[in-house]
Amino acid sequence: MQSGRRVFSGIQPSGNLHLGNYLGAINNWVRQQEEYDNFFCIVDLHALTVPQDPKELRAKTREVAALYLAAGIDPERCVIFRQSQVPEHAELTWLLNCVARFGELSRMTQFKDKAQRGGTETASVALFDYPVLMAADILLYNAHSVPVGEDQRQHLELTRTLARRFNHLYGETFVVPEPMILETGARVMALDDPEAKMSKSSPSPGSYIALLDEPETVRRKVRRAKTDSGSEVKAILEKPAITNLLDIYAGMTGRSVPEIEERYAGKGYGDLKKDLGEVVAEGLLPLRERALELLDDPAELDGILEDGAERARAAARPTLASARTRMGLG
Ligand code: TYM
Repeated sequence: MQSGRRVFSGIQPSGNLHLGNYLGAINNWVRQQEEYDNFFCIVDLHALTVPQDPKELRAKTREVAALYLAAGIDPERCVIFRQSQVPEHAELTWLLNCVARFGELSRMTQFKDKAQRGGTETASVALFDYPVLMAADILLYNAHSVPVGEDQRQHLELTRTLARRFNHLYGETFVVPEPMILETGARVMALDDPEAKMSKSSPSPGSYIALLDEPETVRRKVRRAKTDSGSEVKAILEKPAITNLLDIYAGMTGRSVPEIEERYAGKGYGDLKKDLGEVVAEGLLPLRERALELLDDPAELDGILEDGAERARAAARPTLASARTRMGLG
């Protein structure tokens, strides 16, 4: 571990991990892991904010661990762990609940969206409190940088507010973290609706490319992706679907969007989709194969998570202890 600067990020083990999670988050974690001390969490307590089948949750937790490793996250260099195995997360959440305000949580758009879908009356209290748990995740490790997709920006802003407020009320305790949101891949949209983000909880499998989809399925989904009117391959406001495909292309290849536009000058949407299907299918194949191999050995995965939890607890304990002391506990 190198600079002493810390990175923290996490993914919920619910639904199928998809290309948005990869391009918006995991891929960036892998690329920058050498530069930081890294904590990559599987946020199972967050997943519980909506009903989960216990057996499925356990299986998905291992699946996320396998995908982290398969993507190239090195468990020597990075602490990979399950949130629920580090009870400090839940305890700091309570302390931060006492400085978070009802009004600011009410303004979180993700809560409003999710609650609206199922009805606010029946939304769990935990769903409302979800951003405070996320703040606790980050602040426990005094993370400087939090690499996430665009949809987490508001939660990061709240985390910064809570850190500053706590520090102001009780004395310097937490590092105020910065979001790390890249230009490419930070907001991958649904393949069948470029106005909606690609989402794990979507009921329509054609809307997302799962990281464990077979190559042929990936090609088919890209082939069927919605396009816009016209025929020119250009990332412009009037072409949200093509813009999304170009963004995915750029994220998967590391090329810039203008470079890709140039490559398709004089060609049509069909050419773009055919090549993109190949790029994504080929790009994800090693990840898929490696993840499936790792899933064959659950004991090994569990061992890595146990080891990670121990290292995470060691890092979290002193931060929680100083927050408790500053608030007058213990
Ligand atoms: P989650 O599990 O919904 O998503 C995990 C990561 O993937 C990013 N992401 C996307 N990026 C680009 N395009 C998309 N369509 C897309 N969909 C998802 C998310 O921005 C995220 O980076 N609350 C978080 C998990 C969390 C967390 C944390 C993250 C809990 N504690 C602490 C960072 C730090 C969530 O639900 O992400």
